[in-house]
Amino acid sequence: MVSRVIPVDPFDLVIFGGTGDLARRKILPALFRRYSSGQMPKNARIIGAARSAMDDAGYRTLTEEAIREFSPGKTCDDGTLKRFLGCLHYVKIDATGEAGWKELTEKVVSVDRVEAYYFSVAPSLFGPLAERLQSHGLADRNARIVVEKPFGRDLETARSLNETLARYFDESQIYRIDHYLGKETVQNLMAVRFGNMLFEPLWNSQFVDHIQITVAETVGVGGRGEYYDKSGAMRDMVQNHLMQLLCLIAMEPPARFDPDAVRDEKLKVIRALEPVEPHHIARGQYDADPADEVEFPDYRTAVDNPRSKTESFVALKTHVANWRWAGTPFYLRTGKRMGARASEITVVFKDTPHSIFGEDAGRHRNVLSIRLQPNEGITLGVTIKEPGPGGMRLIDVPLDMTFADALGPDGGESVDAYERLIMDVIRGNQTLFMRGDEVEAAWAWTDPIINGWTTRGDVPKPYDSGSDGPDAALQLMRRDSREWQKVG
Ligand code: BG6
Repeated sequence: MVSRVIPVDPFDLVIFGGTGDLARRKILPALFRRYSSGQMPKNARIIGAARSAMDDAGYRTLTEEAIREFSPGKTCDDGTLKRFLGCLHYVKIDATGEAGWKELTEKVVSVDRVEAYYFSVAPSLFGPLAERLQSHGLADRNARIVVEKPFGRDLETARSLNETLARYFDESQIYRIDHYLGKETVQNLMAVRFGNMLFEPLWNSQFVDHIQITVAETVGVGGRGEYYDKSGAMRDMVQNHLMQLLCLIAMEPPARFDPDAVRDEKLKVIRALEPVEPHHIARGQYDADPADEVEFPDYRTAVDNPRSKTESFVALKTHVANWRWAGTPFYLRTGKRMGARASEITVVFKDTPHSIFGEDAGRHRNVLSIRLQPNEGITLGVTIKEPGPGGMRLIDVPLDMTFADALGPDGGESVDAYERLIMDVIRGNQTLFMRGDEVEAAWAWTDPIINGWTTRGDVPKPYDSGSDGPDAALQLMRRDSREWQKVG
């Protein structure tokens, strides 16, 4: 299967923080891959803007190294790379001062092309950058800004950030990134739900017993200890990535696949979320890996804060209080240093209303698992008769579709979330970006949970590296006579 590549219009993309970690790991390699695929016009210009003193040649060298380091396994044609590097420029700039802005305005070609400004910098610089773009005449109607997470650390800061950005840019020019929305399989959630007749009639509390959303990581906090210890799993993952997954699973069908129709429906889900009871949450902090405590220390050592009360794991139960979902619990969990790297959504259907096979047949339920990563695909557990002469005994077998198998060996081009999202910015398609009111609603639900922990002085429970999290997470399910599905 050959993917169709539709070239985007000419653009100038300015990357503030252009020499930073995100630019090197994700943004520049993503742009190179889009260039190699033919989607990026040859006359596009990428302007790195950062504090370091560097010229265009230095920025091209930095970019080449980043592409070679962070695109492992991808083919890197030297001629193509050389032509791509020719699109790169650099400006030394002071985000809070005046240095470099005149030069930047001279470099950006604002006639007949899209101007995109990527804020790959600390959130404290979002406001000053927006303000300077405007005062230097760069916030015109061709301009759009791309804002990375974290978007605020609570409702108040998110609201104030929204207000600041709104002073200089219209909402239609603001692209708030949640990279989970750029993942191929996350978009597949919408395709599966709204492209098939099979699932939607059953997609409600009458037929669904409960839904589980798991995003498990094997990595620890790595070199991001300082940021992470001020955030924790709730702010880092639940408020954004898991919330988005929940929205896509729970929302009503939008009338059209267009930005506001989709985001209106997601917003309704977030606003319908019930507050979470303190006893419906389990928090954890990972212990050291006994096999190598130096390489894989415990959470508090990793963040260099011996008394840290920040969670590296959280599991919780919530409800979406509307007609479709009343009474159906949603269980969410995410954590670092868990047993497997796996993002998966499981829809557990109810028992059949009456078993004609009697008590001995046991309990059998259909379970639909949507694997977002790795090994992307869908498995539906179906109940059949156990083969053999032993009478009418039932077993569950998986009806399994791994997308890679179903689509064949060259089954579509694998596109990283950042490739898709950056091209959407250039195309002006906001469907996969969070709207300001969505972000605020997500914080309005998250804040009381975090504030409750602070007020009660809650301390996360330790859990073993490589495990499923603290025992309290298992108990959260068991109290409801349910179990977490095995993932990964
Ligand atoms: C980021 C979080 O947004 O998502 C990280 O800040 C986390 O802590 C990462 O590791 C997970 O993303 P992915 O794409 O690896 O599942």
